[in-house]
Amino acid sequence: MPIIAPSVLAADFGNLQRDIEMLNQSEAEWIHLDVMDGVFVPNISYGMPVIKTIDGLTDKVLDTHLMIVQPERYVKEFKEAGADILTVHYEACSHLHRTVQAIKDEGMKAGVALNPHTPIELLEDIIRDIDLLLIMSVNPGFGGQKFIRNTYEKLVRASELIDRKNAEVLIEIDGGVGLGNAEQLTQLGADVLVAGNSVFSAHNPLEIISELKNS
Ligand code: DX5
Ligand code: ZN
Repeated sequence: MPIIAPSVLAADFGNLQRDIEMLNQSEAEWIHLDVMDGVFVPNISYGMPVIKTIDGLTDKVLDTHLMIVQPERYVKEFKEAGADILTVHYEACSHLHRTVQAIKDEGMKAGVALNPHTPIELLEDIIRDIDLLLIMSVNPGFGGQKFIRNTYEKLVRASELIDRKNAEVLIEIDGGVGLGNAEQLTQLGADVLVAGNSVFSAHNPLEIISELKNS
C-alpha cells in the first residue's frame, strides 16, 4: 500500500486548522508541504511560520518539498519549523551531496526532487545517500495540473536504479495524482503518492484518501 501525502497547497488557508484536523483523522501518513520562492518556480507559497503552525496541529510526518534556489541556506530553519523530511531539487543545488549530508546531519530524512525534464540517471552517484526520490509528474509551481505520462517510464527507471544500486530509497510521485492513475503508479513501484487537488477539492476527502491508499 502506498503512503499518501496530501498537499496542503490545495487546502483552504482560511480554515487551515480544520483541514489539518481532517488529515489527522485520515489514513494519510504524511503531510506534503510545498515551499516556493518565486525564483526557482514562478509562484510563491508559504514558509517556516506556516510549517511551524501545522507542526503544532499534527503528529503526521511533515514531508517538506523545497522549490527554492540554494536550499542549503535554510536547512536548519526547516528543521526548527518541524520538517521531518526535507526534499531539495537536483536543479537547485550545485553541491547536492553536501546539501544532502547537511539535511541528514540535522536529523531529517533527505529527499531529492527531479523536474520532468531531468533524467533519473543523473542520480547514479547520489542514490545511495538519499532517503527519498521525488519525481515531479507536473512542472513544479502550481497545483491542479495535468499528469505528464512520461512519468510512468521514469518511475520504472528509478526502480531499476534503486535495485541495481541496492539503495533504500522511497519513490514519491508529485503532481496530478488521483484515482485515475494511483493504481498504475503503485504497481510500477511508487511508494508515496502526493495528492493536492484530488483530495481537497473532493466532496469527501477522507474517502478519497482511503481509496488512494487502497489503490
Ligand atoms: C507542485 C507541487 C505539488 C502540488 C500537487 O509544484 O509540488 O505538490 O501541490 O498538487 P496536485 O496534486 O493538485 O497536482
Ligand atoms: Zn510538492
